[in-house]
Amino acid sequence: MLLSRNYRRKWSNPMLDPKIEAALNRQINHEMAAAYNYLAMSAWFEHGNLTGFASWMMSQRLEELTHAQKLLQYVLDRGGQIELDAVEKPKNDFADVHEVFALALEMEKENTETINDLYVMANELGDYATQSHLQWFLDEQVEEEKTFDEIKSLLEMAGDDRSALLYLNDKLGARAAAPKPAE
Ligand code: FEO
Repeated sequence: MLLSRNYRRKWSNPMLDPKIEAALNRQINHEMAAAYNYLAMSAWFEHGNLTGFASWMMSQRLEELTHAQKLLQYVLDRGGQIELDAVEKPKNDFADVHEVFALALEMEKENTETINDLYVMANELGDYATQSHLQWFLDEQVEEEKTFDEIKSLLEMAGDDRSALLYLNDKLGARAAAPKPAE
């Protein structure tokens, strides 16, 4: 035996606190809701023949599903219970591409807030393993907010110029098709 029983007991991770277990389950729902919203946005773009934006949003949807799965697996790995909830109906229609990306950026900012709240809760509970797991999500949110903010700014520069919008449609389509670096 490599470690004595007492040593292991002292250093092993305690069971998930029910408060953080419930909050992690809510976060899984947020990630699923984000995936559903990006699916709706992708479909809206595809319907308007903006296939580059559509494919970019579809990649974003897949990322959100990965986030939900990552959290779900973490709860299970800590011996917690999964309680999936209904996913809220997404917005299905938009005035224009600007509205889509403005809403997406808002959603990402709200998501950052819920992850920050989770991190604070984990800290208050002395749950260092959850804090460590959430660190990845905090870094990811910095990246996501930056990306959405950049696209929103580029769209503002393009305004109603159709050729500029079509250029961005192509540019985002190419990026979505590029393989993602391994994590
Ligand atoms: Fe899962 Fe876009 O945050």
